[in-house]
Amino acid sequence: MNHLTSWTDLPAATWQACLDRALWHRQHRAWTQSAAGKALGLVFFNPSLRTRASMDLAAAHLGAHPVTLTPGSGTWGLETRDGVTMDGDAAEHVKEAFGVLSRYVDALGVRTFATLSDYEADHEDRAFRAAVAASAVPVVNLESARWHPCQELGDAATICDHVGDPRGKKFVLHWAPHPKPLPRAVPNSAVMMAARLGMEVIVARPDGFGLDADVLALAQKEASKHGGSVTESSHRPDALSGASVVYAKAWSGGTVYDAPELEARQRASHADWRLSNGDMTRTDRAAFMHCLPVRRGVVVDGDVLDHERAIHLLQAEYRLHAQKAVLEWVWGLEG
Ligand code: CP
Repeated sequence: MNHLTSWTDLPAATWQACLDRALWHRQHRAWTQSAAGKALGLVFFNPSLRTRASMDLAAAHLGAHPVTLTPGSGTWGLETRDGVTMDGDAAEHVKEAFGVLSRYVDALGVRTFATLSDYEADHEDRAFRAAVAASAVPVVNLESARWHPCQELGDAATICDHVGDPRGKKFVLHWAPHPKPLPRAVPNSAVMMAARLGMEVIVARPDGFGLDADVLALAQKEASKHGGSVTESSHRPDALSGASVVYAKAWSGGTVYDAPELEARQRASHADWRLSNGDMTRTDRAAFMHCLPVRRGVVVDGDVLDHERAIHLLQAEYRLHAQKAVLEWVWGLEG
């Protein structure tokens, strides 16, 4: 079964084929019937605008029928943990829910964000893996605690479309302030994506906000295979200098699990990391990216988002094209 749980499920050649296919879908914008007679179940444990709309439409564009469920809101609350006594809010376990849905549909998409309170559960992507284990059909990760592979593929296609050959170009993943601690699935995936594109990747972040060491090690290994590099910096001007792409994203600090109040104070102390057009002038006329949703005036100045070099809307559009490519791969459809 072609599950898409993380970037590792798509070896480089398959990932490249999906990326090329996403570019093709944007060019041709075709509605086909290649998946006619198939159904796609989409289960969102957490809110979504882009993923929900674009996955629903990706299925429709291919002739498949989407069914979208939001556990706890019009659908029973679902338990993902194994071995717990279910005397709380959840009325049904994913073992039954996904077992049943597998009998209705030909693939499932699942969104399960990080808890940011249970490090082991998040690091092992336990909730998402429980859904995969309970499913008898392929599962597509629509953002789990650790990874957001659909975002990653769409982002890669956006860069190839807008920047051209990305190899050797400088990609800055720029930490941003936020009033809430946010998960790291997007920054983890962004760094892997740029590494796979063979870019010179700099993770610019304040001290205490580095990505997990295992993710950086994986990205460095991947970058070395593709002629790129991955380093970290806490010096914003140096990091931004000469950049071709600046990808802003907020994520939580390393103390979020053990000392959340300390993490909140640390995060608040770095409000000056909000990106401005003044920051962008240090770059090589860089394209600005953000996965969205974004808080104007907090994460980034509105002027940056309104600038002609901001490509966050194209980036969001590519989610649709990339997910059509993913569904074709999942279902083994002829391209
Ligand atoms: N970027 C992204 O996944 O957007 P949504 O949370 O709106 O789906």
